[in-house]
Amino acid sequence: MARNAANRPPLRLCIHRGPRHRFSLPAMPASPLPWSFPLVTGASSGFGVEFARQLAPSARALVLTARRAEALDTLADSLRRAHPNLLVHCLPCDLACPSERRALPDRCAALGFTPDLLVNNAGLGDYGSFAQANWNKLAQVLAVNVEALTHLTYLFVPLLGRHPASGLLNVSSLAGELPMPDFAVYSASKAYVTRLTEALRIEFRPRGISVAALCPGPSPTAFGQTAQRPGEVLPSADFARQSPERVVRCGLRALATGRPDSFPGAAVWWTSRLLRLLPAPLLRLILGLRPRQARPLSP
Ligand SMILES: NC(=O)c1ccc[n+]([C@@H]2O[C@H](COP(=O)([O-])OP(=O)(O)OC[C@H]3O[C@@H](n4cnc5c(N)ncnc54)[C@H](OP(=O)(O)O)[C@@H]3O)[C@@H](O)[C@H]2O)c1
Repeated sequence: MARNAANRPPLRLCIHRGPRHRFSLPAMPASPLPWSFPLVTGASSGFGVEFARQLAPSARALVLTARRAEALDTLADSLRRAHPNLLVHCLPCDLACPSERRALPDRCAALGFTPDLLVNNAGLGDYGSFAQANWNKLAQVLAVNVEALTHLTYLFVPLLGRHPASGLLNVSSLAGELPMPDFAVYSASKAYVTRLTEALRIEFRPRGISVAALCPGPSPTAFGQTAQRPGEVLPSADFARQSPERVVRCGLRALATGRPDSFPGAAVWWTSRLLRLLPAPLLRLILGLRPRQARPLSP
């Protein structure tokens, strides 16, 4: 029977980098995801909430972590209502704190939970000139985006390896593709995530752990609010904007289908290709074109 055009899902473009490029049109209902025991960091907001929602239908138990316990509880309640057979555990944790990170595997073990998917999603940015940054904020960016992601991967690899097939999805960014003035520490932290993920993908293959990097462009979450300093305006790139739902779907599909990374959306994907092709001197020239003002520095 012909499908009613009004009920047809919108045409969607989901581009992953890999051995072959794919323009997928998920007009059919999405197939179940292969993970039963996912652990999602940064689950109190934005992509993290969306990861939890999209993983819940195929999961048997789900661990959610972030600092804001109330937001985690609210999400957990709504997931339990939608999926009565799903076990949802909230483990509030400040990932910037090494001892709290170290305690996470034991807290999971106490619940009888051995993850078969780790989504390293928690992260934050700081937009504005490096010299005028607040050091504590830069330290948070490094602690969460770089240290915590690396430490959690290290702590959970042995647990992921207990399953015959498991996954590690690191949330990086399109910003990791170029050295961004005024986003210097954030873009460098994401370049680290993308490179680390690429290397671990090869190291973990014999252990049966699939690894992928999700490299989104702009998406409407609380990220911009957190990254913005008072008086600074975060530049918007509306042409490349993708919904959190799309971003997360592309990332999970990339990991499930064995692709190394995902740059959701045509504009984001083409931008990433262009950035990798541009000769460094030309890239430096373009990045230096924006007029800059040397403001007085605080002592
Ligand atoms: N949105 C975008 O435009 C965009 C684009 C590219 C990449 N990304 C990346 O996507 C990821 C998710 O960001 P989002 O867009 O969903 O932003 P978001 O809505 O601000 O979510 C950030 C999440 O990270 C958690 N987090 C931050 N600091 C933490 C800490 N010290 N300990 C534990 N959890 C912490 C937050 O939870 P609590 O505050 O409750 O701790 C929150 O759940 C980040 O890695 C970001 O870099 C975002």
